[in-house]
Order: sequence, then structure tokens, then C-alpha cells
Amino acid sequence: MGYLGEISIIVLLCVSMSWIDRAEAVPLPLSTESRWIVDGNGTRVKLACVNWPSHLQPVLAEGLDKLPAQDITGQILGMGFNCVRLTWPLELPMNITLRSLTVTQNFRQLGLEESLNSIEAYNPWVVNLSLMRAFEAMLMVLQHDGLMIVLDNHITTPGWCCNWNDNNGFFGDMYFNASMWIDGLREMATVALRYSNVIGMSLRNELRGPKSNIDDWYKYMQQGAETVHAANPNVLVILSGMNYDSDLSFLHDRPVKVSFSGKLVFEVHWYSFSHGRTAWMDAPLNDVCGRISARVMATAGFLAAGGDFGGYPVFVSEFGVDMRGTDAADNRFLSCFMAAAAEQDWDFAVWGLQGSYYLRQGMKDLDETFGLLDHSWTGFRNSITLKRISSLQRPFRGAGLSQTAVYQVIFHPLTGLCIGHKNRLLGPIRLEFCSLSPRWTYTAQRTLEVMGTQYVLQSSGDFQKPIELMASLPDQASQWVLLSGSKLQLASTALDGSSLCLDVFSNDYVITEKCKCLDSNDPTCDPASQWFRLVDSTMP
Ligand SMILES: *[C@@H]1O[C@H](CO)[C@@H](O)[C@H](O)[C@H]1NC(C)=O
Ligand SMILES: *[C@@H]1O[C@H](CO)[C@@H](O)[C@H](O)[C@H]1NC(C)=O
Ligand SMILES: *[C@@H]1O[C@H](CO)[C@@H](O)[C@H](O)[C@H]1NC(C)=O
Ligand SMILES: *[C@@H]1O[C@H](CO)[C@@H](O)[C@H](O)[C@H]1NC(C)=O
Repeated sequence: MGYLGEISIIVLLCVSMSWIDRAEAVPLPLSTESRWIVDGNGTRVKLACVNWPSHLQPVLAEGLDKLPAQDITGQILGMGFNCVRLTWPLELPMNITLRSLTVTQNFRQLGLEESLNSIEAYNPWVVNLSLMRAFEAMLMVLQHDGLMIVLDNHITTPGWCCNWNDNNGFFGDMYFNASMWIDGLREMATVALRYSNVIGMSLRNELRGPKSNIDDWYKYMQQGAETVHAANPNVLVILSGMNYDSDLSFLHDRPVKVSFSGKLVFEVHWYSFSHGRTAWMDAPLNDVCGRISARVMATAGFLAAGGDFGGYPVFVSEFGVDMRGTDAADNRFLSCFMAAAAEQDWDFAVWGLQGSYYLRQGMKDLDETFGLLDHSWTGFRNSITLKRISSLQRPFRGAGLSQTAVYQVIFHPLTGLCIGHKNRLLGPIRLEFCSLSPRWTYTAQRTLEVMGTQYVLQSSGDFQKPIELMASLPDQASQWVLLSGSKLQLASTALDGSSLCLDVFSNDYVITEKCKCLDSNDPTCDPASQWFRLVDSTMP
């Protein structure tokens, strides 16, 4: 089919979708102001994205065999995300044979007749488009719904990513030709000029492999950044670190030098397996969480630390867990991750949206256990975990968001909720949405005071008793310290001198309880129900 025919199909598609809800409009283009990504008015925009792969051999955004594309974007909006990190293989723009194949041709060649039939049923408009046009059509669909888009060059040759020795990991590898990469970035950045909702480009996913070295990182990443910016000055230029995008520590001593300003963002990936397969299981959780969080801050988080002054935005462009809830290491990781992600208020992208893949590593219709959506793409794989992650979607603070003075919320990573309700200051204290939190302040007397009042959080001095808000002078029942290797347990002192930790009873009542795992060397001990983090906030 000719170019014009393809375009008219896409136009028809968009007209027919006009009933769909759109994300809130953000004045574009985006830029950076110190550690914040800000909109055209200088107000912080928090990227709350899902990863949506389009880089595997079919080179088509996954899931079009399960639902109409506009229903998938509807799912993304319905889950509260405002953005998609859409992945692409370098060969898509650069290999003329590949980019010109139609979806039908490519699926047939891969033996994916069944998927193709389903795609034809749900998304008939896509089957005769070339792979490049189909990719652009997805940009159109996302843009139509007001979703922001980060284009991520995930890999060179279409396929599953990544291994240390896959020859696809670092500049100069057999499948990673740096000059082809530069050309591909220029081409994609130019395509993106037509879609204002493409707000960022991740230059290359998870740099890795035996050729990894810092000098080449600066050489090529700076060149890639200049190329993208010259072709498309609207997009944020997103740079990934070494070692599977876990390490940007070298930026401590040697800043990136580019000719432009206000557009650089750094990305980091953080999974339970990022620091060794067994790291989360072979030591007490408080110690593991404390140690690994400190490492993430030292290797990447430092770029966005230091409040409003200096630094760069840090975009956690991949994190995720087995949504079945059966992976103990993932479950331990997620509570620890939630505490850090809320405290640091990072921009993020969950891995992943997809409930399934057309073809991954030779397997057809493969299930994605990390998917937010289930195998049918119609339901949620785990609505409790989704709700937890959703608590990170709203910004806690940031440039231009409100005039409110900084206060703190007391965030509970296990639920994604916060202590206390604005309208219920008396009576038992419960967990509520963080947007309804009172404005706490942790005072020099170690009390947790509702700002501007004399009310402080008061322990009953006993186990399994509700905590209360009382107007009282600081005493040992109203003084709280952060205990344990994770510094996530908030404890007061009982009458007998022992520590009493905040905990949660019956899902949402906040009580004091015997502190869990404090002196334990038992690696199976899990204190996460007692974890709370004080998070700076200016939410109005
Ligand atoms: C951005 O600023 C313009 C002009 O001041 C204003 O009309 C618009 O409402 C602002 N947009 C947002 C999202 O704040
Ligand atoms: C281009 O893509 C085609 C189709 O997938 C493939 O057969 C060919 O090897 C690719 N060419 C290069 C140079 O990678
Ligand atoms: C795709 O093209 C084929 C061959 O030209 C045609 O038979 C078929 O009807 C087209 N499918 C759609 C959905 O347009
Ligand atoms: C890298 O790609 C360029 C064109 O993009 C080509 O001229 C060059 O020969 C390639 N280098 C290698 C080592 O394949």
C-alpha cells in the first residue's frame, strides 16, 4: 500500500477514537530545572511511565493481538500513568529491508500466523502497514490520548535483551556500530519532530559487556546527545549508565559536556537481581535494604539528591517485580524500592505494561509475569501491587507545584499509603491516601507534630495498641527514632525501656508493636509491615 493510503488509515483511526479520555494536557516542550523535569510553564511534571516493548523480532508494539490499540492506551490512562517508554531496535530506522516489511510479511516470516489473525481482528488497520509506519501509528495513538512518550533505543537487531556477552552491549561490539547508532538516533529524533508528545529519547538501553569503558561512554554518549538535540531540540536527552544501567558513579568526578542545557536526564534500572541474584535473600532484610539503597544512591541517586539545588533528574526507567507475588526476593525488594522511590520522588517507568509477547526467545504468546496487565491484556495481574505502585504517580514535591512550605508525610511502603487523615485528627490513626495526609514535621525534640499545632503522635506505651494524636509535652511516648539497618522502623520507648515500633493492624489501623527483626540475624525475618519513611512533600 502507498504512503497516502497508510496515512489515511491512520487518520481514520484517530477520528474514530475521539471518545477516548485523554491525559491532562501538559504545556510542552519539557525541560529540566535542577533535578526536576518541568513543563513549558516551569511546573514539575513527574514521569509516571510504563514500558511498552516494540523491540522484539515482530517489531510491533506488543498486545495488538489482544486488544484494539486505543483500548490498550485506555488501560494505561485508567491505571493512572501519564507516559510510555516505547522501545525500538536500531535496525527499525536503519535497515531499509526491515523497515519496509509489512506487519503481515514480518509475522508470516516469523511463523506467527495465529497472532497475525488476532491482530487483524483487533487492529485491522495495522496489518498492511510497513513496520516503520506501524511504529509511527503507535506514536499517533499515544499522542491522541495525551500520553507522553519516551523513545528508547533498546537494542540493535530486533530480539530479547540483554546479556553480558551478546555483542550488543557497548560501542564497537559486533552488533553495536556507533556510527550506525548515531545515524539511527538522528533519524528517530527527526521522526519524533512530527509527534510533540515524544518528550524524551533514551539513547541506549543497558550499556554492558566486556568492551565497557568510561572514556568511550563520554565520547559516544556526548556525541549521541548532541545528535539528538540538533535534530530535535524539544526532547529530553536521557543517558543510561554502565553495567546494565546501574552505574553512573563516574559522573561524580567528570560531568557530561554538551553544548545545550536544560535537557539532560539520567536513567537507572533497579530490579531485585540488579545487585546479585541472592542479595535480597541471604541477609536480614533491614541490612540488605539499607546497604543496597545506599549503593543505588551512591551510583545514581546522588544526581538528584540535594533538594532543589543542583543536580539532574533521575529517571528510574525500569523497575518491576513478578506480579504473581510468589518471588520472595522481588517482594522484599519492592518494599525497599518503594521507600526510596517515594523519598527521592524519582520519575519512573514500570517494567512492564505487557501481559504477553507475540514471540520472545523462540516462544510464542509468552506470558510476562512482570506485566501490569494479565495475559489477556484486559485485567490486572495484581491489583494490590498496582495500587502500591500507583502511589508513586503523583509528585510529592517539585518546582512550581505549590506555595506550601515543605512538610513530611509518613509513607508506608508496603501499602503505598500514609499515616493519618486531614479530617480525622482525633481518634485512632489510620493509613490513608498520601494526598490526604496531615502535614507532619519531625521536630528537633524527635516528635512527629502536625505542623502549626501542638498535636503530636503519641504511643500508648504498650503492644498492639492504637497510636493517637495528643496535645502534650514531649515525653518518651511521643519521641520517635528511626531504627535498624534500613532506618525504616519508627520506634518510641515503652515504659519498661524496650522499643515499640509503628506497625499496621487489620490493613489500616496504625498501632505500636514489638519491633520486628531488630536484633535478628535470621535472613527470613521480614519487618516490612513496620517500615515507614518520612517523605518531604509540598502537596497542597
Ligand atoms: C501555563 O501558562 C499559561 C500562561 O500563563 C496558562 O494559560 C496555562 O493555564 C498554564 N498551564 C498550566 C498547565 O499551568
Ligand atoms: C535487515 O533486515 C532483514 C530482515 O529482517 C535481515 O534479513 C537482514 O539481515 C538485515 N540486514 C542487516 C544488515 O542487518
Ligand atoms: C491487506 O492487503 C491485502 C493484499 O493487498 C488485502 O487483501 C487485505 O484486504 C488488506 N487488509 C486490510 C485489513 O486492509
Ligand atoms: C558502521 O556503519 C557505517 C554506516 O552506518 C559503515 O559505513 C561502517 O562500515 C560500519 N562499521 C562496521 C565496523 O561495520
